[in-house]
Amino acid sequence: METMAVNYEDQTILFNFVVKQGNGVKGLIDSGMSCVPQPFVQPPSERIATLNAHTYEAAQPIDLSQLDGPHHKEVAKQIVVAAETLGFFQVVNHGVSVELLELLKTSAHEFFAQPPEKKAIYLKEVSPSKLVKYGTSFVPEKEKAIEWKDYVSMLYTNDHEALQHWPQPCREVALDFLKSSMEMVKRVVEVLMEDVGVRLEEERLNSLMGTKMVNMNYYPTCPSPELTIGVGRHSDMGMLTVLLQDGIGGLYVRLENGDWAEIPPLSGALVINVGDTLQILSNGKYKSAEHRVRTTNIGSRVSVPIFTAPNPSEKIGPSPEVVKRDGVARYKELLFQDYMNNFFSQPHDGKKSLDFARAN
Ligand code: OGA
Ligand code: NI
Repeated sequence: METMAVNYEDQTILFNFVVKQGNGVKGLIDSGMSCVPQPFVQPPSERIATLNAHTYEAAQPIDLSQLDGPHHKEVAKQIVVAAETLGFFQVVNHGVSVELLELLKTSAHEFFAQPPEKKAIYLKEVSPSKLVKYGTSFVPEKEKAIEWKDYVSMLYTNDHEALQHWPQPCREVALDFLKSSMEMVKRVVEVLMEDVGVRLEEERLNSLMGTKMVNMNYYPTCPSPELTIGVGRHSDMGMLTVLLQDGIGGLYVRLENGDWAEIPPLSGALVINVGDTLQILSNGKYKSAEHRVRTTNIGSRVSVPIFTAPNPSEKIGPSPEVVKRDGVARYKELLFQDYMNNFFSQPHDGKKSLDFARAN
């Protein structure tokens, strides 16, 4: 690949090169950059010290093959306890083939290995499809420091449009991933809601899970990982997120005591985490987990999350059954569209996103 001279000193030129022209953080690395430029340097409070971080080893992955058999009660309990405490758990026998998991990681690498002009066509200002968006960082225009992450997101409407509009190197595998995990995700939501005394009608469940998006994240190897972050502290806005991570590691979740613990890569497993919407529906019983991603200099990491969230027109609020039992509604009822607009309007700041829904 031809290398281009980039002026790393001029922050506007650098921002334009990475964000506006769509070269991404990967383009920066490929251009020969060997030290982290200022716009990526996090304030000390957001940096991630790797030395004293511990791994969340207590939790064994939950075996979903046992969910609808004689061990239903035990497995359901494991899911409920994990969602109430950490808000994160890993699952095996989830119905997605191990071959597909491998293909997903390969095609994520393939997408980002393309020359910048092949990816930049999906920048949000110019993307040929409203379903596809490529970019760097979460809201780079508003962040104090830019995240060390390139991504492409693919919104699902129907199979036909996905196969027509999603980017070539990943459309088929991403759609397979979505379709082979959706039943499992819905089942997990049902189990969680049943435990708070809510039996969701098929139609309501489908509306609560009506927004589905597959992302592919690419965290380039970083020359000074102690200065940067892959993704800043945040919670996901939807119901449940299913995430495939590769073997590099670096996904951290906030514990109840405020410490951070790594969700260790487990070959063949999928990570599931609770989003804000499920916290709201359960009136706070289930915890949308605050999480973040560190960078590393051992190699480039990929991850493939599937986000599930309500239809924009869906009303969300604490379920009446739960409010009755709790004697108080901790969140107000709102239109999911409004929650989503607020979520995307500001940089990641831990669980601050939930304040928007808090009852006052
Ligand atoms: C996200 C996220 C974690 C990861 O995309 O919301 O938290 O491991 N990703 O990439
Ligand atoms: Ni997340």
